Amino acid sequence: MKIQANDPCWCGSGEKYKKCHKEFDLSLINYQKEGFSIIPHKFLKNSTDIEGIRKSGLITRAILDEVKSIIKPGISTEDINTFVHNYTLDNGAIPAPLHYKKFPKSCCTSVNECICHGIPSPKHILKDGDIINVDITSILNGYHSDSSRMYAVGEISESRQKLVDVAKECLMVGLNQVKPFTRLNNIGDAIEEYAKSFNYSVVRDLCGHGIGKQFHEEPEVVHYSQKTKKGLLLIPGMVFTIEPMINEGTYKCKYLNDGWTVLTSDGKMSAQWEHTILVTENGYEILA
Ligand code: MF3
Ligand code: CO
Ligand code: CO
Repeated sequence: MKIQANDPCWCGSGEKYKKCHKEFDLSLINYQKEGFSIIPHKFLKNSTDIEGIRKSGLITRAILDEVKSIIKPGISTEDINTFVHNYTLDNGAIPAPLHYKKFPKSCCTSVNECICHGIPSPKHILKDGDIINVDITSILNGYHSDSSRMYAVGEISESRQKLVDVAKECLMVGLNQVKPFTRLNNIGDAIEEYAKSFNYSVVRDLCGHGIGKQFHEEPEVVHYSQKTKKGLLLIPGMVFTIEPMINEGTYKCKYLNDGWTVLTSDGKMSAQWEHTILVTENGYEILA
């Protein structure tokens, strides 16, 4: 049954529909007529959800801040996992990766040619000159927040530093496209154009994602160009990650038979940074 003017609004505000999201929904119909797709309402976050993800994000960000001080040559990726696991629990949160679709650890540690989903291991010892992505997802009071950063192990080469820097700039370039009532695909268009200007490639097999009470939900956020369609419309209340994986060589991936580890197919370096972001009334807010 279609929602009536005096019904409570679908957003959970407790207001009548006519006083809350009715006008908003009518404006969306016009965008649909122009050829945009609209995300189902159930994926839009209300103020309770947003506050929940924001609080979760504080823990995720604190872990990424703190982990910097333990990363040095000679430690194992398992040491990083132990630190992340304990820090998360000490702060009343749950590490989302642990047992997610059978992932065995509490964070992802992706070194050098590992694109993403590297599994921490006591056998993997970090060496001087390595680059590593640590990807953290915390759950606090049922709300997920997902963010990742790159770290240098000891002294790294100029070319690795450049890749790490440009990958971070790719995330920022994508972020700057986030405005309500514009194309979601502007994000991928801008990231691919920027990466290509340095002769780097953008991974296509893995995408950003909506996030909230679920780890991965709608929308899918591609980081490469999909020029043709209007595609999905950005609207206030959408929360999703942007997490471009930028490669020195080919964008093609190779998969280990552990069910998780994703490597570059040519063995060249890869770098990734990730934020969880909210689409606001006039732009975006970084939640993690
Ligand atoms: N945090 C990753 C992402 O950015 C997902 C990791 S799935 C896991 O989406 F199971 F490996 F944790
Ligand atoms: Co993510
Ligand atoms: Co992540």
